[in-house]
Amino acid sequence: MNICCIGAGYVGGPTMAMIALKCPDITVTVVDMNAARIAAWNSGTLPIFEPGLDDVVKQARGKNLFFSTDVAAQIKQADIIFVAVNTPTKTYGVGAGRAADLRYIESVARTIAEHAETGKIIVEKSTIPVKTADAIKTILASNSKGLKFAVLSNPEFLAEGTAVKDLTNPDRVLIGGERTPEGEKAMETLVGVYARWVPRDRIITTNLWSSELSKLVANAFLAQRISSINSISALCEATGADVDEVANAIGKDSRIGPKFLKSSVGFGGSCFQKDILNLTYLCESFGLPEVAAYWTSVVGINDWQKQRFAGRIVKELFNTVADKKIAVLGFAFKKDTNDTRESAAINVVRDLLAEHAKVSVYDPKVPADEIKIDSLGKGIDNPRLTVAKDAYEACAGAHAIAIVTEWDEFKTLDYAKIFAGMPKPAFLFDGRNIVDLAALRKIGFKASGIGKPAASRRAEDLG
Ligand code: UDX
Ligand code: ADP
Repeated sequence: MNICCIGAGYVGGPTMAMIALKCPDITVTVVDMNAARIAAWNSGTLPIFEPGLDDVVKQARGKNLFFSTDVAAQIKQADIIFVAVNTPTKTYGVGAGRAADLRYIESVARTIAEHAETGKIIVEKSTIPVKTADAIKTILASNSKGLKFAVLSNPEFLAEGTAVKDLTNPDRVLIGGERTPEGEKAMETLVGVYARWVPRDRIITTNLWSSELSKLVANAFLAQRISSINSISALCEATGADVDEVANAIGKDSRIGPKFLKSSVGFGGSCFQKDILNLTYLCESFGLPEVAAYWTSVVGINDWQKQRFAGRIVKELFNTVADKKIAVLGFAFKKDTNDTRESAAINVVRDLLAEHAKVSVYDPKVPADEIKIDSLGKGIDNPRLTVAKDAYEACAGAHAIAIVTEWDEFKTLDYAKIFAGMPKPAFLFDGRNIVDLAALRKIGFKASGIGKPAASRRAEDLG
């Protein structure tokens, strides 16, 4: 069997590497029109940082895993084609800012129709609005010389930073298809691929629309938990409760559960916001404005949380950060990834720059260029924004430190040494609740966390 995946990004690359590793008899080729990206997949430095991925790729690459720019040739050879191209939010026209931009998906469907010489199974891997499979089917049927295509939905649930773990041992694999004999047969073929390493009872088959919708809903529910706890973080700060203690207490209820209750500076990543906006657009299109409003508020709280964090820094630094150096530790949207899409750090840096702060950013994995482009826009420079080579350089001479990504190395920095090199009072704002605030206060920092009682209130509580 030959599998081809169009799109060598955060989804296509790791997923195909895992399929190749687990199915040595299947030839898997990942294609992309971005030649630099393909070259990187073929090199010693992969284009994405993902713990454990180097190892998986090394084991399979050159045996049954290949990366190529020859999209047409691979389409011809493939029995199954995964579509893992990007589906950004539309920036123009109807649905701008919310609906998914399907031009890459459509272009792929047309390319498949143009080059295919035999019928194939087409698998949607990208997250897409419900009913996209219909569009793909129509384009294929209208352009492909009478060949038979089965379109399946197989959304990816891996999270960045834990992709290899999630792919090795997924909670579930979801496959949606048409409930026709051809659709069932195509689903069985794909089930057969995953069943090589995923227990059969964790492979769920549904109709196409349930599968497409489930992906949006799963992300909306996960994001909703974060916005819920983040909304409570503000109440904790106002009342003297501790959000981590509240999360722990409520998470022990097995009906609620402990995961995705970590209060933060706000969620980021390529999926949560985009998928919720997509869901709300879908609801409105189907005449359900109340449902749309409910989910829109999840994004609203997230925006507010990001602003609240930057706002608090300004407020505590005596209402002005103009010309003060602020160290921003972390720029990726979460630890263990170099991905910055929708990262809360972007908003924090922009807000601080708007207040004329001098911002020094350090991230262990995000390149300096990326930090500048994300914060300022391509080709724009601002001398107030610098990128440091390590956390110590970022913090030297800073009036305040803002921890924005929860990289492990920020937990064990020599904060006494850092404190010594900062003007006083030296502030630290932990946007991830990863450092020991009491220990930092002992050193002399004016330290605060998200949803944590202020130092003065804590002292009152402790008598
Ligand atoms: C998410 C989904 O988890 C995954 O199933 C889907 O396939 C893609 O979208 P991802 O965006 O890679 O994955 O990372 P995730 O771990 O979900 O984190 C998303 C954001 O939420 C990050 O910014 C993270 O820091 C934040 N987060 C997560 C919190 O603020 N608190 C939490 O408790 C969990
Ligand atoms: P994701 O996080 O969903 O994997 P990425 O943006 O990381 O998204 O990756 C999507 C990839 O799809 C990009 O590398 C892009 O070049 C590729 N791509 C988009 N459209 C096409 C196309 N028509 N043919 C080949 N590759 C494409």
